[in-house]
Amino acid sequence: MAKSKSVRSSAIAEFLKASLHGKDLDIRHVAPIEALTRNGLTFARRFDEKKIALVNAVPQSLVICGPEYKGRLKASHILSEHPGYDFVRTVAAFFWQKPAVVISTSAAIDPAAKIGKHVSVGRNSVIGPEVSIGDDTTVGDNVVITGKTKIGKRCVIKANAVIGEAGFGFELSATGVPHHFPHLGGIEIGDDVWIGAGTCIERAHITKTIIKNNVKIDDLVQIGHNCVVSENAIVTSGTVLCGAVKVGRNAWIAPNSSVKEKCKIGADAVVGLGSVVIRDVAAKTVVAGNPARILKKK
Ligand SMILES: CC(C)(COP(=O)(O)OP(=O)(O)OC[C@H]1O[C@@H](n2cnc3c(N)ncnc32)[C@H](O)[C@@H]1OP(=O)(O)O)[C@@H](O)C(=O)NCCC(=O)NCCS
Repeated sequence: MAKSKSVRSSAIAEFLKASLHGKDLDIRHVAPIEALTRNGLTFARRFDEKKIALVNAVPQSLVICGPEYKGRLKASHILSEHPGYDFVRTVAAFFWQKPAVVISTSAAIDPAAKIGKHVSVGRNSVIGPEVSIGDDTTVGDNVVITGKTKIGKRCVIKANAVIGEAGFGFELSATGVPHHFPHLGGIEIGDDVWIGAGTCIERAHITKTIIKNNVKIDDLVQIGHNCVVSENAIVTSGTVLCGAVKVGRNAWIAPNSSVKEKCKIGADAVVGLGSVVIRDVAAKTVVAGNPARILKKK
């Protein structure tokens, strides 16, 4: 939700603890660089000569940009080592209002569930008796959270996510009949975790499926039972983590990747678009393809 107020460029610079280069203006809206207009705020993550021309056509604007742009811009600007991050912080602080906290009357929340302060729960969402949800977490519409599931603070869970159902684990009888492994375990989700729309996270056989602090999981991701996804890891759309996969800190898994059961993706590793990972990936290693092979070390 957008806030409808204007802010001075100097106030934005002060907020970012940075210097303002150029005029102190009223900044009234946010715009992509290609659609920048008077009194707008934009950012330039990577240096690009074409962006200089776009910005210089609108001198009454503010740009948060990398130090390579120094001395090249007619518009007001704030130089930053992390322009994208500083832009996001600025938008969140001055141009965005968190939606109101609401628990929908159509949500079915078991009376035994532990719901923290300022938690929103959307329409038709179902929350089971052994679930606990930390303060300031937002649960969207049609979400199912069941089983022994603990969710931390400030998480965002988008519509249609399903968290805590039993996993797809079957043992075959002597005649090959699959018998479901009763899933007695649970799920532990840390703070500031993002869970995308339609994403499913299965509870563990006996222990826990673990998603640590600051993990961001995109829409339509499948996370199998007993997986452990470590801090800051990013798991993008269409990815399937089979059972007991371990994803290291800061790892990046690109869209539509499949990771074989029990594989370990090392810290800071990157799994490229559409990869099929069948072996462990070492830390700080970029892999891609089917089967995934090493492209380079970071
Ligand atoms: C894996 C990745 C990081 C490699 O990027 P890069 O280092 O710039 O690599 P290049 O594009 O220079 O390609 C290097 C080689 O790897 C191959 N390659 C790159 N990505 C590949 C992929 N996903 N699958 C198979 N091969 C791939 C290229 O064909 C090229 O091979 P060649 O040398 O035989 O021509 C990138 O391709 C990728 O998948 N990025 C993820 C993007 C993403 O997550 N987007 C979603 C955002 S929400």
